[in-house]
Amino acid sequence: MIIILDYGSQYTQLIARRLRELGVYAEILPFHVDQKTFVSKSPRGVILSGGPASSYQKGAPQLPAWLLAWSKQTQVPVLGICYGMQLLARAHGGTVARAAKREYGFAQVQVLEQDPLFEGLPKEFQVWMSHGDGVEHINGGTRKIAHTETAPYAAISSGGDGERWYGVQFHPEVVHTPLGGKLLENFARRICGIAEKWTAENFIDQSVAEIRKRVGKEKVLLALSGGVDSSVAAALIHKAIGSQLVCVFVDNGLLREGELERVERLFVKERHVKVVVADASKAFLGKLKGVSEPEKKRKIIGGEFIKVFETYSKKLGKPKFLAQGTLYPDVIESVSVHGPSAVIKTHHNVGGLPKRMKLELLEPFRFLFKDEVRKVGAALGLPKEAIDRHPFPGPSLAIRVMGAVSPERLKVVRAADYIVEQEVRKAGIYEKLWQAFAVLLPVKTVGVMGDERTYEDVIAVRIVDSSDGMTADWSKLPHELLARISSRIVSEVRGCNRVVYDITSKPPGTIEWE
Ligand code: XMP
Repeated sequence: MIIILDYGSQYTQLIARRLRELGVYAEILPFHVDQKTFVSKSPRGVILSGGPASSYQKGAPQLPAWLLAWSKQTQVPVLGICYGMQLLARAHGGTVARAAKREYGFAQVQVLEQDPLFEGLPKEFQVWMSHGDGVEHINGGTRKIAHTETAPYAAISSGGDGERWYGVQFHPEVVHTPLGGKLLENFARRICGIAEKWTAENFIDQSVAEIRKRVGKEKVLLALSGGVDSSVAAALIHKAIGSQLVCVFVDNGLLREGELERVERLFVKERHVKVVVADASKAFLGKLKGVSEPEKKRKIIGGEFIKVFETYSKKLGKPKFLAQGTLYPDVIESVSVHGPSAVIKTHHNVGGLPKRMKLELLEPFRFLFKDEVRKVGAALGLPKEAIDRHPFPGPSLAIRVMGAVSPERLKVVRAADYIVEQEVRKAGIYEKLWQAFAVLLPVKTVGVMGDERTYEDVIAVRIVDSSDGMTADWSKLPHELLARISSRIVSEVRGCNRVVYDITSKPPGTIEWE
C-alpha cells in the first residue's frame, strides 16, 4: 500500500481515492503518526499531502523526524505534494518563501528532465496550482525536473545520495490536473514498484479470510437497516461465516415504504441470511408522541435503538461481535489533523452502543469509500436496487415530519417520499442525485380541488447534489419532473394539497430539515 501523511489539505482524501481508482491501495494517516504504527502497515510508498500552514512558521507541521532516514534505509520512495514538497525541499537545505503572487488556478508545467515520474506524459501539460508559498532555492544536490512560468520549482527530485523522493508543487490528485492520475500511477507503479491490483474481488477474498480468523466460532450481530453499508456488510460477513451472522432489522415504525419486504426478499429469501425482525414501532412511536424538538427526537430514537439491541443481544445468546458498516471518511474524520467540528446534529448510528454490552466491533469497511462499498456489493452479487440507494438518516422519517410525529403524519410523508423516489428513478437520474425525499411541514394551507375548498398540509421536496454530504446544492431539475412530482403528490397523497421545492444549498441549510 501507499501511505498518505495528512497535513490538512482539503484534497488529502482525493489522493487516496485517485490511487484506489488506479487499483493502488492507499491509506491516510496524520502527519504526526508514530513510526511503529506507520511501519506496521508495510508501506511501499509514501505521499505527503498539501496543507494550509507555512512550513517556515513556528509550530508548522513538519516531516516526521524518522521519515527520511527510514525511506533511505528501506528505499521506499516519498512524494511530496505542495506543502509536502516544500517540507522535502527544506529538509534538503532548500528554502521556502511566500510566493510573489498567490498561485491559484491552471498552469502549464514544462518538463525539464525526463524521469519515470513523467513517463507517458507530454513535455508540457496542464496542472492545478493552489499555494501561497513556493520553493525559492534548492540545494545543489536536489534536481529541478519541471517548472511553470511562475513557479521555478514545479517538480523536484532527490539528486542521489541514495535517497528516493519527489516533490510536485501542483496537485495531481484533482480533476483540474487531467494527467495527474498518470503521474500518480507512475509514482506508484514505476517508482514504488507496486504491481498488485487492488480490486473489489481481492478485497472480498482478503476480508472473508480476516473475518473468519477473527470471529472463529463466535456469533456476530449486525443491525441491518436496508441501507447500502449494512446491506453490503451483511452480504460480506454472511459469505465469511454463514449462520454465525445474525442480523437484526429494527422496525421502528419510521421506515420508508416497503423496507421490511425488501430486506426479507433480498436477504432471507434470496441469500438465506438469518434476519430477526424486531418490531419496536410501538415503543418508538410511544416515546416520540408529542415531541417536536429535533434534538430530542434524535436522542429518543438513539436511546430506543440501544434498548432494542440490548434486548436482542440477550435473546440471541450474547454475540461477541457487533458488525457495523463504518466507512473510511468517518474514520479519517476522527483521526484527522483538525479538531472535531461543532455538533450541528446528533447523528444517530448504532456506533453509540453502551460499553456495558461488551461487544467487539467488526468493521469490514473501515478503510473503504462509499463507491468502493458499492463495488464490493456488486461483486458479491447484490442487485442494483440494494447498492445504489441514497443515504437515509438513522432517525428515519421522524426527522422528516416537522413537529410531533404520529402514525397519520408518517403515512403522509411515507407516501410522498415514495412518489419522489419513483419519479426520479423513472427520469433515470436517481444515481446522479445525492438524495431525493419529502418532508412534511407543520403548516396547513388553503387550496381548491374540484369546486371544493381544501385546508391541508404542505410537503416540501428536497433533492440535492453532493459528493460527500458535507456540502450540497439543491438540484436544478427539469420543471417537467418537478411538475410531475407535485401533481402526483397532491392527487395521490391524502392530507396534502401543496408541494414546495427546497432551493437552499448546504451551507447555510443542512440536507435534512431536522
Ligand atoms: P445533514 O442534514 O447534516 O446531513 O446535512 C448530511 C448527511 O447525513 C445524513 N444524516 C444522517 N445519517 N444518521 C445518519 O446515519 C443521522 O442521524 C443522520 N442525520 C443526517 C443525511 O441524510 C445526509 O445525507
